Parts: sequence; structure tokens; C-alpha cells
Amino acid sequence: MNIQENISLKSYNTFGIDVKARFFVEITGLVQLQKVLELKAYPKKIIISGGSNMLLTTDVDALVIHINLKGITLVDQDEDTAEIKVMAGENWHELVMWSLEQGYGGLENLSLIPGNVGTTPIQNIGAYGVELKDVFVSCAAMDIKTGELEGFDKEACKFGYRDSIFKNEAKDKYIITSVNLKLTKKEHALHTGYGSIENELKDKGIVHPTLKDVSDAVIAIRKSKLPDPREIGNSGSFFKNPIISKKTFDKFIRRHPDAPFYEIDENKYKIPAGWLIEQCGFKGKRYGDAGIHQKQALVLVNYGNATGKEILELAKKIQDVVNKTYKIKIEPEVNIIK
Ligand code: EPU
Repeated sequence: MNIQENISLKSYNTFGIDVKARFFVEITGLVQLQKVLELKAYPKKIIISGGSNMLLTTDVDALVIHINLKGITLVDQDEDTAEIKVMAGENWHELVMWSLEQGYGGLENLSLIPGNVGTTPIQNIGAYGVELKDVFVSCAAMDIKTGELEGFDKEACKFGYRDSIFKNEAKDKYIITSVNLKLTKKEHALHTGYGSIENELKDKGIVHPTLKDVSDAVIAIRKSKLPDPREIGNSGSFFKNPIISKKTFDKFIRRHPDAPFYEIDENKYKIPAGWLIEQCGFKGKRYGDAGIHQKQALVLVNYGNATGKEILELAKKIQDVVNKTYKIKIEPEVNIIK
């Protein structure tokens, strides 16, 4: 087992934050993972997979375990559907591209989301009207204390908006090692209702879109709005869209009749945090190397050498101003490692 010391984590997190791991180990097998978890000499352990949903704010005085488990297998199929098992270290977007090559439907709206498969259930990734939970069957997760593998079906995962059991009761207790997804082989349920997808397809004159057409549309929209982490460090949406009660919503919409919103149910409304942040004048602003993306105010960016602390300070300032202006609290979506 190769445990390295003082390794820079810059290339292991999409924010491109240059902090060091005191110890670092790369995991390519389940037995190896069990053995690493048993190591008593390293009581503090931190898991990194694709590093696409985290903000590192300081050097990590722990053993950083980089999950690099690979493999995609077809575990079950019938005429209409295929169930695949995907190991945690597979890159999500490459999986989406692979599924399209097989002619499998279900992942096309989730094209170009950065990160690896193992972290997708944690925050129930979602975009353009589809969430992971729509194709999710189960996942396997290793208990960090015992090294035992456990299965979590969809119900056990308690999925919500950018939320699951792995952000709550099961937080920091498990390492997700693989995910099973059920995809369609025919009669694909295309989700093209999201405004910008419809427009993108219309612009191209596509009336009967294929899976690939939908994926291409999503890729084009994401490229036009979201920064590519290989060019500008970022973690996608930094904040979740706040969900407010009807009472708060009624007051809010009376004052701001032009604000966009989604009704979740009769007592819950979701307000796009990007809109709130833009209205507060932050969009496109830059403070040293930390900034707010020019085309999507929900995304904080690292223009080069921002520290995690600088990004965090900026996030706090945004939360403060939004709260003072709109009396709405916005919470980070990314995992902040202190
Ligand atoms: N808006 C603004 N200004 C901005 C950004 C957005 O006014 O700077 C307004 C838009 O005009 C629109 C509304 O906010 O009326 C919603 O914007 P958009 O469709 O871009 O989606 P979002 O709510 O900002 C969410 C996800 C994204 C996902 C998109 C598309 C969250 C936290 N974010 O963003 O997810 O791609 O919907 O489905 O739910 C991610 O999680 O990393 C991510 C990029």
C-alpha cells in the first residue's frame, strides 16, 4: 500500500484549491479500501472522489483516501430496460457518454455534470428536470468503522432536492463504492420540457429528438452558462436554491413581482438563489482571485490562486447581503472542509 506524504490536492478538487494532504492514498480495490480503513496509525481520514463538490479551506492533517474504483457492468436486463452497476471512481460524464453509445436512456439530461459516480447519490445530482433518483436503483457503501459493505435501495437513500441520507444521518459514516442504475433500452422518456432545452432543440429545427440530441442540447446550455472547471476552478452551484414557506413567499412576491420561482407544493416555494445573488449586484464581481461567475451567479469561481478561505469569505458575504436584502437564508450546496 503506497501511502504518500505532503501531496498537493490542487488537481484532486475542481475548485483548484492548492492545499496539502498530510497523507494520501489511492484506492483501486475494495479489499485495499478495507485495509486502509483498518489502519490505526491514521485516525483521521477524509474521502475524495471527483472532488467536484467540495471546498478545501486549509491543509488536511489527515489521511486523504482517493477513491479510484473503476468498472461498469450490466447486471440485469429485459426487453425494455438495462440495470448497470458502476464503480464509484468512474467519471460521471464519461458514463453518460457511454450510456448513449449503448443506446440507453435516462442520463442524457445529466450530461456534463463534473465529478465521479460515487458522489452522485450524496447530493442526488440534478439538472434540467431530471435527478439521479429517477434512474437510481441502489448503491453499495462501505461502513468506515467496520469495513463492511451495505446496500442502500432508493427508499433507504431518502433522496430530496440536493439531499440524501448521506448528507444527514449517514454523513461521514460510509464510502459509496458503486451505484446501480436502471436505464431504458426503448421507449425512452425524454425530458425536454425545461425551457432552455426546448429552445435549443427548436433553434436546431429538431422535432423528434434522440437521446443524443437532448444530451447535445444540455451540453450546449451548460457550456454557455457554466464555467469549465479545467479552465476556471469551480464547484458548480455553490448554493442551493432556498425553499421558503408560503407565508414568506407571499410577502416576497408582493415586493418582487418579477422574481422567478417554482412552486413545490402548496406550502413550499423554491426561489433561484442565482437571481437573488444577481439582484444583490454580485454577478461577475471579482475579489482578488475569488469571484462570482459572469453568466451564472450561483457559481463561485477561482480565477487561479484563490484560497479556500477567500472563497468561503466571499460566500459568507453573499449570504449576508442576500439575507439582509431579502430576509432569505441561502445555504451552501458544496461540502466545506475545515
Ligand atoms: N438566474 C438569474 N441569475 C443568475 C442565475 C439564474 O436571474 O445568475 C435565474 C434565471 O434567469 C432563471 C432561474 O434563476 O429564471 C433559474 O436559473 P437556471 O435555470 O440557470 O437554474 P438554477 O436554479 O440557477 C439549477 C441547478 C443547476 C442546474 C440548473 C438546471 C441548483 C442549486 N442548481 O440552477 O445545477 O444545472 O438548475 O437544471 O439547484 C449544480 O448543482 O452544480 C448545477 C449547476
